[in-house]
Amino acid sequence: MRLDKFLSNFGFGSRKEVKSLIKQGLVSVNDKPVKNPSLKINPEVDIIKVDNEPVFYQKEFYFMLNKPSGYISATKDESYPTVLDFFINEPAYKKLFPVGRLDIDTEGLLIITTDGTLAHRLSHPKWNIEKEYFAIVNGNVNNIDFSKFEKEGIFLKKDKYQTKPFKVKVLKTNQEKSEVSITVKEGKYHIVKKIMLELGHPVLYLKRIRVGNLRLDETLNTGEYRHLTEEEIKNLKSLVNL
Ligand code: URA
Repeated sequence: MRLDKFLSNFGFGSRKEVKSLIKQGLVSVNDKPVKNPSLKINPEVDIIKVDNEPVFYQKEFYFMLNKPSGYISATKDESYPTVLDFFINEPAYKKLFPVGRLDIDTEGLLIITTDGTLAHRLSHPKWNIEKEYFAIVNGNVNNIDFSKFEKEGIFLKKDKYQTKPFKVKVLKTNQEKSEVSITVKEGKYHIVKKIMLELGHPVLYLKRIRVGNLRLDETLNTGEYRHLTEEEIKNLKSLVNL
């Protein structure tokens, strides 16, 4: 791979900006300063340093973000901040994107990665990946028999759409509101809000706490993120035959 392309991919700027870094003598390959932006390097073997800091080669990057409300699950938006805004200082910033979408007002677990294959499979209906949410809903849900939805899902009249089976666990109730855990296997737009609305209990607060075998790290405050561990990456990949 060309040195300038490698550095640009890593977020050191456009090709032009990277060329300027190289021309200024700030880049070394195997501890030898280089001035040639088109120098061919092997990122898996060569040690590249920018300003004496090594640039570690990693094919793909995987993070979990505890998404706050108010951020759009996209890489760019005209009107709102996006979940990528938290990653602006990451070397792979330009290649990162969110896996699936959470609504602007939904909080919680969002995987941010460069790995297109994993992202595509985790979001594809064929793999039936479970997504678990913590929800606070309006009203008391104690009189609802949720067990039948585990077999047949529910028909959303407005959308004329039969959902896949889903699970609800009631955690707490009072007359005004209820706390539930709801696990769905589909990524349809507003699915949890639509299900609860169909049942007459609009969602007041929504937070995703699990995707497949990956749980939100509760030590992350909203707006904080961390790298996934090797184990977490392996476990996620194993869900989708990777
Ligand atoms: N279902 C919703 O209604 N909203 C989300 O953000 C995710 C699932």
